[in-house]
Amino acid sequence: MATLSIIKADTGGWVGHSAVHPEQLATAKVRAEEAVSEGLLMDAHVASCGDDLALVMSHRLGPDHPDVHGFAYRVFQETTAVAQRLGLYGAGQDLLSDAFSGNLRGMGPGYAELELEERPSEPVLCFLADKTEPGAWNLPLYKMFADPFNTAGLVIDSKMHAGFVFEVFDLYEEKRIEFRCSEESYDLLMYIGAPARYVIHSVTSRALGITAAATSTQRLSLIAGKYVGKDDPVMIVRAQSGLPAVGEILEPFTLAHTVAGCMRGSHHAPLMPVAADQAHPSRFDGPPRVVALGFQLHEGMLGMPRDLFADPSFDTARSTANTVMDYLRRHGPFEPHRLPLEDLEYTTMHDLEAVLARRWQPIPGAKKAAGV
Ligand code: F6R
Ligand code: MG
Ligand code: MG
Repeated sequence: MATLSIIKADTGGWVGHSAVHPEQLATAKVRAEEAVSEGLLMDAHVASCGDDLALVMSHRLGPDHPDVHGFAYRVFQETTAVAQRLGLYGAGQDLLSDAFSGNLRGMGPGYAELELEERPSEPVLCFLADKTEPGAWNLPLYKMFADPFNTAGLVIDSKMHAGFVFEVFDLYEEKRIEFRCSEESYDLLMYIGAPARYVIHSVTSRALGITAAATSTQRLSLIAGKYVGKDDPVMIVRAQSGLPAVGEILEPFTLAHTVAGCMRGSHHAPLMPVAADQAHPSRFDGPPRVVALGFQLHEGMLGMPRDLFADPSFDTARSTANTVMDYLRRHGPFEPHRLPLEDLEYTTMHDLEAVLARRWQPIPGAKKAAGV
């Protein structure tokens, strides 16, 4: 069995929150090569999306392994030191603790891990997003694995016709549930249509009995109890031979669907699919970006990634994202561009309420005014 792990963190931005500095990437690459030569990892690829540094790793240690998680944490501590030395912005932003204790749960970095028995040929897509949250994967995952208007294979491939099981996490109450699709797809949609709370954690093929997709599901803001940056998500999706084809996996991103994130983690904005060298959200700290790296996993080796959104057929999606961004931006501080109060990452509302409490008066004729 091999395990694919994508572990990512924002350890400091160049400039502001828009990119990872080349020196941080170089430091991570050196450490990744050492970990491969020492035998901890079978292979590793260092990538970035916006201000998030991602380690894409293959190994034989299984998910949640302290050696793999500990290695990633040490890399992030080193890239934080680089950020401190260069005066980068928000150095160590996602590292919530100085001491690593067993695994990364609740420690800040995000991770998606998928254990697999390698098929004779194993195409795997790794998605990295910046300026958004894990629920951003809900809509594309639904389309890939449950919508026949997106995925032709659901209708015409007998292995896919049996459908997929979606595992959903309730991030507020820390509980999980499974929905068997297609027959429970309406139930599934009732939950995952609220992506701030309900997040698809994994998808399993009913015919093949294998995990086809895994996402990162941490909510940094909830972990830390205060705003410390968006928990920009990552995702692993296996392709072909009874799973959606590469093109069916990429197709949902032609929508540039609206996600939460962008400026101050507090706005709705379109998710723009981009080539890796365009993954630098600068306009209004957005629009949020997604990068897709395709690997042809072979005997545990990742090999070279293909940059799958570096394709002119996503130009219309990018243009749509710009049009939607122009339209939403004109709403300024109004919803639905700004998130509803309960989902705001930063808010002065609490302080404002304290200051204004005495100035609220009952509306004449009203039986009762809240807080008066
Ligand atoms: C969004 C994000 C940025 C910052 C914004 C303000 O996820 O990281 O949009 O929220 O640039 O940053 P501070 O408060 O650090 O000045
Ligand atoms: Mg940042
Ligand atoms: Mg980020």
